[in-house]
Amino acid sequence: MKDTFYITTPIYYPSGKWHLGHCYTTVSCDALARFNRLDGKDVFFLTGTDEHGQKIADRAEEAGVTPKAFVDVLVGELKDIFAKLDVSNDKFIRTTDQIHEEVVQKIFTKLYEKGDIYKSSYEGKYCTPCESFWTETQLVDGKCPDCGREVKSHSEESYFFRLSNYADRLLALYEENPEFIQPKSRQNEMVNNFIKPGLADLCVSRTSVKWGVQVPFDTNHSVYVWIDALSNYLTALGYTTSDDTLYKKYWPAQIQMVGKEIVRFHTIIWPAILMALELPLPKRVFGHGWLLIGGDKLSKSKLANVRTEIVDPAYLTNRYGSDAIRYFLLREVPFGSDGIYTNEALLLRINSDLCNDLGNLASRSASMIEKYFDGIIPNSGKVEEIDKEIIAMGNELYGKVKANLDKLLIPQAIQDCFGLISRANKYIDETMPWKLAKEDTERLATVMYNLAETIRLATIMLKPFLTNSPAIILANFGQDDIDCFSGNVTFGGLKTGVKVTKGELLFPRIDVAKELEALEEYAKSIAPKAVETVTDAKELESKEEIDIDTFGKIQLVTAKVLACEVVPKSDKLLKLTVQTIGGERTVVSGIAKHYSAEEIIGKTVVVVANLKKVKLRGIESEGMILCAEDAEGNLVLVTPEKAMTGGFEVR
Ligand code: MSP
Repeated sequence: MKDTFYITTPIYYPSGKWHLGHCYTTVSCDALARFNRLDGKDVFFLTGTDEHGQKIADRAEEAGVTPKAFVDVLVGELKDIFAKLDVSNDKFIRTTDQIHEEVVQKIFTKLYEKGDIYKSSYEGKYCTPCESFWTETQLVDGKCPDCGREVKSHSEESYFFRLSNYADRLLALYEENPEFIQPKSRQNEMVNNFIKPGLADLCVSRTSVKWGVQVPFDTNHSVYVWIDALSNYLTALGYTTSDDTLYKKYWPAQIQMVGKEIVRFHTIIWPAILMALELPLPKRVFGHGWLLIGGDKLSKSKLANVRTEIVDPAYLTNRYGSDAIRYFLLREVPFGSDGIYTNEALLLRINSDLCNDLGNLASRSASMIEKYFDGIIPNSGKVEEIDKEIIAMGNELYGKVKANLDKLLIPQAIQDCFGLISRANKYIDETMPWKLAKEDTERLATVMYNLAETIRLATIMLKPFLTNSPAIILANFGQDDIDCFSGNVTFGGLKTGVKVTKGELLFPRIDVAKELEALEEYAKSIAPKAVETVTDAKELESKEEIDIDTFGKIQLVTAKVLACEVVPKSDKLLKLTVQTIGGERTVVSGIAKHYSAEEIIGKTVVVVANLKKVKLRGIESEGMILCAEDAEGNLVLVTPEKAMTGGFEVR
């Protein structure tokens, strides 16, 4: 019987446009799934969508459709993107699947009956504009720590999960299974920032959120979205249903891959729930870094501001092919840390690795075999000392790739393959086949054999990462495509006497400067449309009429941003130092989710200069920056239409 290998991605929120960052986890898991299938494992690879919650209900209402109709469109788009990128998932789960909802209800009931979930009431403060709950101690001067506005007392009857009971067992889990949280640094973060300061019980139901799974024994409540979402890893396998074959076969998961911002949910809440259900725990949770665009995490709300970098996965895949996009995603984000996307970085990668190294090796070698041996791969004869290194590298490649992928070091595994490819290119220069053609055809045959064999081995090992070109290269060299590594990854397995064809150029060289211009043109052409789609204005309520004198009391002035930084412990606030009327001043603004600090420096914005000072997170804010808000809640800075410094009146 084959060993099983269950690998999961997080399930994605269908709340807006999909971007390249969303493809990162799924393409990474796809590479691992493909490797393990070829390596003889019985793989189950799961991805899907997380479709409940207030945010999605609100978006649907704004769009004037039902939540289900709203998510159906986005789910369809995501499935199309994954198909374009050749994602080989065995199942796509949706949390609106009836079977998922039923099993979530069973899980919730079981936890309740066991006493791990109890009913109590949630007491706290609520900031309506920010839609955030706060405890007394989090408030600043009794006001919302993010926006400085008044908060209301809020009390809601809720169900709670006894998370506090699991702190010791979680610590023991990490201690006894050092592999459980990867990379190690994230484990320290969980222990020091969350578990050691004390775990509070978790509120796991809402009466205010209607778009969700109902608590079966108290239908006024819906199950907290994270409990609903995390359960997908079990419900997808038919856990507790009449057909739980998949569950019995594949649970527990070998790898649960998640973005770094949701490691806490997967390594604290999720194992605690599994412990409460008395189920085995996943073997490893890997918290990967983000794909950053110009230093920012790609996020749906920022996409409206992306002007020059194209981050639409469907467009990029259509333009460059899935191999190029997969290659970039898998190669560019180092283990556990962030990687940066720019159009230029993508084009340079395609040119240097896929075109210069891989494409060039295959086409040079095929041309030489055509020229010197009428296109027929010769047998090896005269082996020399210089061949030993390339033969050894070819023999070691599978072991190296496997060892790196076992440690989830995907970019390193790719580098192993390209290490052999570069070595082979160098081997051509060292052996000088054009000279051998005149002097020693027996030796030339061996050199051609070694090249073709190296190409075969490197190409086979690239199959988990690239889904098109390996099969084409193997076919061009008259070799069979393979569906398992075993028996195919040692030097000497090359079929000889078969015909080589050069085929079409796999990765034509890109003129980077020209292509960048073309991309920029395209970005400009879609920019107005992108804005239009997200700025269908909301029905704004009219405010009371005011006269010009009242308006005149508001002093609006241009302000040049000299410095800007994120306010510590806040994900919404930026602290700006601006030059405006009266010199420099500090303004705190809730735009951190829409602009990065670096992006704002140097811009001229508009401030309300005579607004009463207010303290936000301990920082005195001397004014407010004007922004427009679109229908998706994206904030866009109001800036003068022509270049202008700070200190000019706006009226
Ligand atoms: N719905 C939750 C997950 C529930 S899992 C039980 C969620 N959804 S999400 O759509 O916001 O994000 C899904 C995954 O995409 C996360 O792992 C997140 O880290 C990843 N990415 C979103 N943007 C990303 C980048 N720019 N770069 C890399 N991955 C990022 O969280």
